Amino acid sequence: MTKPKTGEMLHLRGNALDKGEPVALPLTQSSMFHLPGDPDGHASYGRVDNPTWVHLEHVLSHLENAPCLSFPSGMGAISAALFATVKAGSRLLIPSDGYYVTRLLADRFLSNLGVSIVERPTTAFAEGGFDGIDVVFLESPSNPGLDMLDLPAIARPVREAGGITIADNTTMTPLGQRPLDLGVDVVVSSDTKAMGGHSDLLMGHVASRDAQIMERVEDWRRVSGAIPGPHEAWLLHRGLETLDVRFDRMCSSAQVLAELLASHPAVKHIRYPGLPGDPSHALAAAQTARFGFLLTITLESEAKAEQFINACPLLRPATSFGGVHSSAERRARWGDAVDPAFIRLSVGCEPVEELWPAIEASLNAL
Ligand SMILES: Cc1ncc(COP(=O)(O)O)c(C=O)c1O
Repeated sequence: MTKPKTGEMLHLRGNALDKGEPVALPLTQSSMFHLPGDPDGHASYGRVDNPTWVHLEHVLSHLENAPCLSFPSGMGAISAALFATVKAGSRLLIPSDGYYVTRLLADRFLSNLGVSIVERPTTAFAEGGFDGIDVVFLESPSNPGLDMLDLPAIARPVREAGGITIADNTTMTPLGQRPLDLGVDVVVSSDTKAMGGHSDLLMGHVASRDAQIMERVEDWRRVSGAIPGPHEAWLLHRGLETLDVRFDRMCSSAQVLAELLASHPAVKHIRYPGLPGDPSHALAAAQTARFGFLLTITLESEAKAEQFINACPLLRPATSFGGVHSSAERRARWGDAVDPAFIRLSVGCEPVEELWPAIEASLNAL
């Protein structure tokens, strides 16, 4: 994978500045723009454009190596990508074990509009082929199971059959995986997670090198009104400035913790793509630059899982992931089809020399 040049990214704005302009990105908190006469070529109205988004999208485009549009949440981005690509009569294939709200969107809203929904588990996703499917939604590694899809081996036949692929890259970020380089047509991401990284905002983006799709996505944003707030855009931009260092530390610590957790007697089962014996290891090694910051462990019982999470002073018992604070939760509490003692653990930026003793002590106390 070609790693995005994050040093260059940090100077994208600076190298285009006029003398006296602020180095930090200004926050343009305005719905109106001074617009006498011909409005062409100028910011017109806050639902259509905003200078803070424009710069954020410049940075996101640098990371994705593709045009990007920002949205007020990951689901906002996923909705935009799907509403821009499906129509009545379309067949949409989605994973049965990915992020559950994507399935809710398909089942509760798209199916009412005449879109037929096909679900397959990540580990058997290619079974049945892709003929007659118009849009294929992918999630790799899947959340929460951390199973991987062979993205080029799916994107190629889908394209040959006349379909479109959309990949949710939230768990990896563009620094860990670039699905567009692997043949996928559209990337969506919840930037609420590691991209923002501080658990203080919701945002998302859509990226694609297909100009027609991006035109539809932009039209959707303008017409639906699903626009990011300028302040959230500004916060996300600020978060992206440290993505490289945060992601590096989070992935390195996750590897260390996974190896230690794998041999702890309280851990019945562990999944981390960076462990050589993990079912996702070979695909992750081929497709991703890093093995990620998410791992899952299964303990002996629901009660022990709760006790472990709640007693560890360096784990926030919270949903969501990708923040500077390590966090953990039992996914069964939201209805994911997993063991009641299955825990998704998001490794944050705390030094691993502090994290492991805290985690180990909490496991030893069970
Ligand atoms: C893989 C994945 N995609 C999309 C989303 C939705 O993102 P948001 O909560 O920003 O709408 C999430 C949220 O947890 C997620 O885990």
